[in-house]
Amino acid sequence: MWCIISKNAFEREANPISELRLDKFVCNRTGVSRTEIKAYLKSGLITVNGRAEKDGSRKICPEECEVAFKGKVLSLTRFRYIIMNKPQGVVCATQDNVSKTVMELVPDELMCANLAPAGRLDKDTEGLLLITNDGEFAHKVISPKSQVPKFYVARLELPFQESYKQIFAEGIEYRGEKFKSANIAKLDKNGEFVLVEIREGKFHQVKKMFMAVSNKVLYLRREQIGKLFLPQDLVPGASLDILHKEACEMLKDESFEAVRSRIFVNFSSI
Ligand code: URA
Repeated sequence: MWCIISKNAFEREANPISELRLDKFVCNRTGVSRTEIKAYLKSGLITVNGRAEKDGSRKICPEECEVAFKGKVLSLTRFRYIIMNKPQGVVCATQDNVSKTVMELVPDELMCANLAPAGRLDKDTEGLLLITNDGEFAHKVISPKSQVPKFYVARLELPFQESYKQIFAEGIEYRGEKFKSANIAKLDKNGEFVLVEIREGKFHQVKKMFMAVSNKVLYLRREQIGKLFLPQDLVPGASLDILHKEACEMLKDESFEAVRSRIFVNFSSI
């Protein structure tokens, strides 16, 4: 699924990266500061076509040569789209003085300037998270105006009630805050696990919606954004670099029923 060449990506990258300074290119692609890059150049860790380059001001045309940083070839594309299976215990922020951030889990070879998580999952929530340096795209995914569906699996303290379907569908008000219509269905016989679809993404939204019906979320995982779902083999903490075209699946709609009938949940792992 992750290896289709994206026409859109090419269109977006259509403006060729003409000649630019080597240090600026490396800085852009890695997020490493210009000062640090000077030291890396000195120690021969930046190569152009396999040869160490010490002059950061050298003009290069990245489409015509291969630039590597610490032995890893740097990608040409301007925008990067990373999906992460966010684990519990880390925060969705670029910096935090107390907790570990999702950015600290991004592998070095995927780091580049201006990467940031698109929206927030709570510290104790797991699952699908987009990390990108394409601010415009991130805005489309998280803006309530876009109405992008987000699907969550939740484990509840008390069993699911059939009445929840209508209550969620009509929209919920909790302590003066209004949440728009949402879909809900139980996933197991006992109604301990549910699938929820929301299209807003307000702070603690799923948890608050269950508090409104006097229940409590004990575990929460985001499974899918639009049509893009968490790959089964992407373990918590792991990341995957995807193409723009694949990221665009997040902007597409999928019916709640289609997601519910396809979803596989390993209940014993929750
Ligand atoms: N709703 C929540 O309550 N928490 C999340 O992390 C995401 C949605």
